[in-house]
Amino acid sequence: MVFLNPNFQNPTGAVISSERREQLFSVASELGLPIVEDDPFSLTAFEGAAPAPLKSMDANGNILYIGSFSKIAASGLRIGWMVAPNSIVQRLADARQQMDFGLSVIPQQVAAQFIKSDAFQPHLDRLQIQLQFKRDLLIESLRRELGEQISFVTPQGGLHLWCMLHPKVPDGKLLDEAIRRGVVFVPGGVYGSDSGFVRFTYARAKTEEIESGIAKFAEALHSLID
Ligand SMILES: Cc1ncc(COP(=O)(O)O)c(C=O)c1O
Repeated sequence: MVFLNPNFQNPTGAVISSERREQLFSVASELGLPIVEDDPFSLTAFEGAAPAPLKSMDANGNILYIGSFSKIAASGLRIGWMVAPNSIVQRLADARQQMDFGLSVIPQQVAAQFIKSDAFQPHLDRLQIQLQFKRDLLIESLRRELGEQISFVTPQGGLHLWCMLHPKVPDGKLLDEAIRRGVVFVPGGVYGSDSGFVRFTYARAKTEEIESGIAKFAEALHSLID
């Protein structure tokens, strides 16, 4: 099985190019490998639509596509959706039923009504504007505080900014210094990378917290390299 998060990947924000999608799709089809396409971020795309899912190429039911309310509405709803052949959906529903007797119907009703309602698209439009605003504020703050000491590719959707630090400092020490100053971040090591990478999330922080949080992060970094 191949597990992919092709649009605005967590943690890097990367999007798989269309050439690579075609290659992936044809290799997986040739080898008979099912693909799980995890796509919780496409509905946050900042400008225009996100690239079409791999699922759109799939005539043979080789791709199990999953989406989630967690990043666009409320993670507490614990609701997602799946596009897959009926036999797979039935088996997964059965497994879920055996794990915890299945999800409560009430949040599912709330989610279904929200998707169908006139409020859903305006909600997404607002969310995209707010996320893009916070992404820009985060980037401005990083450029101002850290200049050449940090580099990144600006994400076009999703919630995360993946950064490389120059010079690379040990994850643990940087996190300790940051926590002492009252700010936390996710060190790249959590995702299996070497020290010197950091993931910032701009979704949850309030706009007024972003600048001061990055100033504290910069102080923490400077305390290790100055
Ligand atoms: C890549 C990815 N997929 C899916 C999810 C959503 O998971 P769930 O719907 O279980 O909240 C997340 C949330 O952290 C994620 O980062």
